Amino acid sequence: MAGSFALNTGATIPAIGLGTWHAQPGAVGDAVYAAVKAGYRQIDCAPSYGNEKEVGLALKKLFQDGVVQREDLFITSKLWYCNNAPEYVPEAIQTTLDDLQLEYLDLYLIHGPIRLKKGTAPLSENSLPCDIPATWAAMEKLHEAGKARAIGVSNFSCRKLDSLLAVARVPPAVNQVECHPGWQQAKLRDLCRSTGVHLSAYSPLGSPAAAGVNAPSVLGHPVLTSIAHRLQRTPAQVALRWGLQMGQSVLPKSTDEARIKENLDVVDWCIPEELMAEMLEIEQVKLLRAEFGVHPVHGYKSLKDLWDGEI
Ligand SMILES: NC(=O)c1ccc[n+]([C@@H]2O[C@H](COP(=O)([O-])OP(=O)(O)OC[C@H]3O[C@@H](n4cnc5c(N)ncnc54)[C@H](OP(=O)(O)O)[C@@H]3O)[C@@H](O)[C@H]2O)c1
Repeated sequence: MAGSFALNTGATIPAIGLGTWHAQPGAVGDAVYAAVKAGYRQIDCAPSYGNEKEVGLALKKLFQDGVVQREDLFITSKLWYCNNAPEYVPEAIQTTLDDLQLEYLDLYLIHGPIRLKKGTAPLSENSLPCDIPATWAAMEKLHEAGKARAIGVSNFSCRKLDSLLAVARVPPAVNQVECHPGWQQAKLRDLCRSTGVHLSAYSPLGSPAAAGVNAPSVLGHPVLTSIAHRLQRTPAQVALRWGLQMGQSVLPKSTDEARIKENLDVVDWCIPEELMAEMLEIEQVKLLRAEFGVHPVHGYKSLKDLWDGEI
């Protein structure tokens, strides 16, 4: 198994990236530093995670300490819902670049097919009609200007990805979506494969901190724990290795150094085909679209009514 996947830009995306959502201020910088030292080469960021400045300080220190050079890393960030109007796009990426202390991103994603009024929280009453082709045209300009070496989308359904592919001059390189053994995304993966869009898996461990609120635990699922026991691996490693074998990059978040290393140790072994087949038995439950009334972390209402039907 290679340590990276090819993108339709001709570049490659490292197979394992460190997630930074819910990585607390004061912890995220150390996590990024430890992850890169351990061998991670992709960091998944977003302004909505509220920690890009601290990630930027960690990146600067990694470069100053000679651990890696800028070109060794693949840095992803995202255009937040409040900035989906095309005229806001250049300023939004510049803020992210300034916070991360970088000249360019390796990948810039439309965070989701949602538009919110400037400065408002993700509540349905704050949503505005979203003109994805217009937003995408603004993303294409960033790509042409070299500020984003690849551009892509996140949380796009088959239907939305198809519509975008029909109008895009630069096709999206990546669709970053929830994907783990408990939400396997077979239909979307087939579409991505057939159109050359790389599927990048967020919440690849089933987001254990949020799982108890609205969905069963992925890491505690008996099929997964049984396979982990038989392979003498941890359930987290089996979940991540499953993702790699399905052809997707995986973005596990951890701020714990031991787990950061554990999550990287998924490259030089494999899940045999008969055990991969057993994972098809896992019942499918989407995490982040579940009908919780109040978001467990941010305290706002579910996003489900903003997603315009299927996501
Ligand atoms: N594009 C989007 O809309 C979107 C949405 C969600 C997430 N994402 C991205 O995807 C990343 C990952 O998703 P996620 O944060 O939802 O969930 P996740 O990576 O599936 O799970 C993270 C949780 O698992 C714990 N954990 C990490 N490694 C573990 C291990 N080996 N064993 C047991 N527990 C472990 C972490 O705790 P510790 O930190 O204490 O280890 C944390 O609570 C995010 O951080 C973000 O970068 C993107």
